[in-house]
Amino acid sequence: MADDLSAQLRPITADEWPAFTRAMHTVFGDPLTGPYTETVPPVAELDRSLALYDDGRIVATSGLYSFRMSVPGAVVPTAGVTWVSVSPTHRRRGVLTAIMRRQLTELHEQEREPVAALWAAEGSIYGRFGYAPASWRGGWTGEAGRLRVRDDVDTGDGRVRLVDAEEFRPAAARVYEAVRRWVPGNLVRDDRWWGRRLLDVPEERHGANERQYALHVGADGEVDGYATYRITGTFTAAGEPESTLTVEEVRATGPTAYAALWRFLLSHDLVRTVAAPHASSDDPVRHLLTDPRALHAHPVDALWVRVVDVGRALAARRYPAPIDLVLEVRDAFCPWNDGRWRLSGHPAGGYCGRTDRDPDIVLGIEELSAAYLGGTSLAALQGAGRVTEVSPGAVTLASTAFGWPIAPWCPDEF
Ligand SMILES: CC(C)(COP(=O)(O)OP(=O)(O)OC[C@H]1O[C@@H](n2cnc3c(N)ncnc32)[C@H](O)[C@@H]1OP(=O)(O)O)[C@@H](O)C(=O)NCCC(=O)NCCS
Repeated sequence: MADDLSAQLRPITADEWPAFTRAMHTVFGDPLTGPYTETVPPVAELDRSLALYDDGRIVATSGLYSFRMSVPGAVVPTAGVTWVSVSPTHRRRGVLTAIMRRQLTELHEQEREPVAALWAAEGSIYGRFGYAPASWRGGWTGEAGRLRVRDDVDTGDGRVRLVDAEEFRPAAARVYEAVRRWVPGNLVRDDRWWGRRLLDVPEERHGANERQYALHVGADGEVDGYATYRITGTFTAAGEPESTLTVEEVRATGPTAYAALWRFLLSHDLVRTVAAPHASSDDPVRHLLTDPRALHAHPVDALWVRVVDVGRALAARRYPAPIDLVLEVRDAFCPWNDGRWRLSGHPAGGYCGRTDRDPDIVLGIEELSAAYLGGTSLAALQGAGRVTEVSPGAVTLASTAFGWPIAPWCPDEF
């Protein structure tokens, strides 16, 4: 069934975009807003889209973005899975399975991206296809009055400037370009993606003001950090201010600018609550505060990753500690990965190829994918019974080698 459907899926043309996007929004139940309901958004890659038609109507949609994603020590081409929807009239007949099979098979056969990634609408959909949560967001809220920057933190002699979107964009892009490769899960943002990131559709503000753009200018006059945020301005019935300041992103090339931007964000008048829903799970802001308990984090899974080609994906990243082990990988959905792989890695690079040697560790593709960005410990997965150690000590060694000092974080939802 899934194989038949797979052959019926085809990319759409630009003329079909309005019907395609309407079909997708109907399934997600969100209103069609913004400038790209009738015209194709610049980030779209229609040659990588797939649609299923039935009786002249689009009943399933999907797409891929050609990303480059930071992974431990490297930047790797990554297929970003998007636009996945199946009409309620066609659910549970294997359509999603057909989409997944078609995407992953083509990536493998055409030797495209060795890794795929997505944001999951529900946590129970994608594990069966080998995807696993590889990054977590540590979204937090805090009472503004309790969020104070420590006195011993150096906030430098620079200044924060509020600017308009036009001035912000090139300056922020330079900062982002300087920092993104050090954070696994960060995506290369070209001009199209900055355009998408800074879209500010009034219907999607949900009561907040327009986005605010802040640049930090260091004492040398160079922009070395930026922040974007919004304020939802409200008062209680008794006339007390109770606004919420929602931080979207704070990036800086060094700790002084980072601290100065946070001091700025945390010192707004009228604000009772500060929220940072998309923060990294290991955001340094926690260590800037006088009272770290004032920050209430609610970690949730963020970017999901799927190793598409074990050999190419594992050779592409780096390993902070030397590793030379045989992994027996179980991958029923992508049988080209199934079997034994010798992984030999170190801080400067890695090799991964087929082997007949006995395995040191046995694990599924979900577990390998979870660990790929360095944010999920193989030892924790072993603790859950999902990784089997054959050679004593192998999981400790592999957990250390697969780890990374900076927690994976993807601030870009797609
Ligand atoms: C999620 C969705 C794409 C699934 O499509 P589908 O064509 O019904 O999926 P399939 O028929 O291929 O299902 C494959 C398997 O996944 C399971 N599954 C599908 N959707 C699931 C869900 N939401 N939760 C749990 N399991 C799910 C099916 O039961 C089936 O299991 P089985 O093989 O054991 O029978 C579809 O329900 C949908 O469009 N949902 C709303 C939009 C959405 O969530 N999109 C995902 C965006 S990230």
